[in-house]
Amino acid sequence: MAQSFDASRVTVIDHPLVQHKLTIMRDKRTGTKQFRELVRELAIFEGYEATRDFALEDVSVETPICATTGKQIAGRKVAIIPILRAGLGMVEGMLDLIPSARVGHIGMERDEVTHEPHEYYCKMPRDIAERTCLIVDPMLATGGSSIDAIRALRARGVRDLKLMVLIAAPEGIAAVEAADPDVHIYTCAIDECLNENAYIVPGLGDAGDRIFGTL
Ligand code: PRP
Ligand code: URA
Repeated sequence: MAQSFDASRVTVIDHPLVQHKLTIMRDKRTGTKQFRELVRELAIFEGYEATRDFALEDVSVETPICATTGKQIAGRKVAIIPILRAGLGMVEGMLDLIPSARVGHIGMERDEVTHEPHEYYCKMPRDIAERTCLIVDPMLATGGSSIDAIRALRARGVRDLKLMVLIAAPEGIAAVEAADPDVHIYTCAIDECLNENAYIVPGLGDAGDRIFGTL
């Protein structure tokens, strides 16, 4: 049975272009090249929403016509944290949006029988604790991988943390909320449930395999 969660901690990107592109990604006939392009594009759309609360400050600027006051992002340091492998597909889109961001990698693989994640790699920027961290991974299923990534970042002193996925299962959202209620989740869709193999239904299948062509 699907679990309930606090919807105020989740932002669903319901823009028509996002929903259209997501449907193409779900289609099993969509090939690797197009799938990878769509993951990148959806990361950009979602990145707009996930950075909406970034503070601005005034800055003087001279246009060809006159001097005026514009706005710029107020000195925020950002890190993009892809959960390997599939999260890598969202990194380029996020760096298009925030070119100065650092990238910290965390390798997490689900055991096919227990569905428990196993961490096999972790390399973070040295000043990670001072950064706004945006974890990126296309799929939030049981929540195990995301929760472990969140814990790894909290253990390194990270305070400002958001989770960006493309499709979330209600079970995964509830699990993340229970583990760390301060993490806001961004997703393009909340699907129905998990199946007996802990895959998201209807979902899009195995995101990593579809991005990297390892089906
Ligand atoms: C997938 C996906 C998430 C995880 C979601 O990765 O990219 O990281 O599963 O499942 P969970 O919420 O139940 O933990 P997978 O372990 O298949 O590794 P991959 O990215 O290398 O394909
Ligand atoms: N990982 C995926 O790639 N897809 C799912 O549906 C669940 C976990």
